[in-house]
Amino acid sequence: MINIVLFGKPGAGKGTQAEFLKDKYNLVHLSTGDIFRFNIKNDTDLGRLAKTYMDKGDLVPDTVTIQMLQSEVDKNPQAAGFLFDGFPRTLAQAEALDTFLVTKGEKITATIALDADDEILVQRLLERGKTSGRPDDQDEEKIRNRYQEYNEKTAPLIHFYEGQNKYYAVNGIGTIQEITERLSLIIDKL
Ligand code: AP5
Repeated sequence: MINIVLFGKPGAGKGTQAEFLKDKYNLVHLSTGDIFRFNIKNDTDLGRLAKTYMDKGDLVPDTVTIQMLQSEVDKNPQAAGFLFDGFPRTLAQAEALDTFLVTKGEKITATIALDADDEILVQRLLERGKTSGRPDDQDEEKIRNRYQEYNEKTAPLIHFYEGQNKYYAVNGIGTIQEITERLSLIIDKL
């Protein structure tokens, strides 16, 4: 089983790349952002709670997010592996994921980051916000807040996974196909 964390700042291309990688490597793609948005669309209790954080560009609290992620993993007992997109985003989430996977005799195989400059990504998200309808892409202040959340709470995971010798990074600028190839070079060696 290979379990990959696709890592990177907001707008780095995690969701875009996951669409290709999940088929190529037969992995179950779990995007916490997509799961929250599904719940918001369906007006569930979880969705209503998540929306109060997401609309501001804040992270949803760990307890809620961890429980949701674990239940999604448990829904896929036959999975050949998982592609985690947007999770973990805090040290508490990373530690909870490790502990949870150990109970299943599993572990994270690699964390692969898509590296890109903030300013390029902010422009990407502002562009997407014109048509996507995502409230957190609608104005620059919310987008900048997502980067602040990333820098404060998510960036420390780089050190966490480097300490486990599981951290890889690729240049996240280029065509979608070029970036898929860069990621595949790493995954093929795992
Ligand atoms: P989430 O949905 O995870 O969003 P994000 O990480 O902030 O950013 P994106 O999904 O916008 O970026 P991405 O890297 O997937 O890029 P994408 O492929 O879409 O999270 C949203 C919110 O949910 C969070 O702010 C938080 O509130 C909550 N949340 C989620 N997970 C959580 C967690 N674990 N803990 C707590 N809260 C959590 O691409 C972006 C754009 O760029 C697209 O328009 C795309 O077409 C374009 N693009 C992609 N690749 C390229 C390329 N190579 N060249 C040019 N454009 C490209």
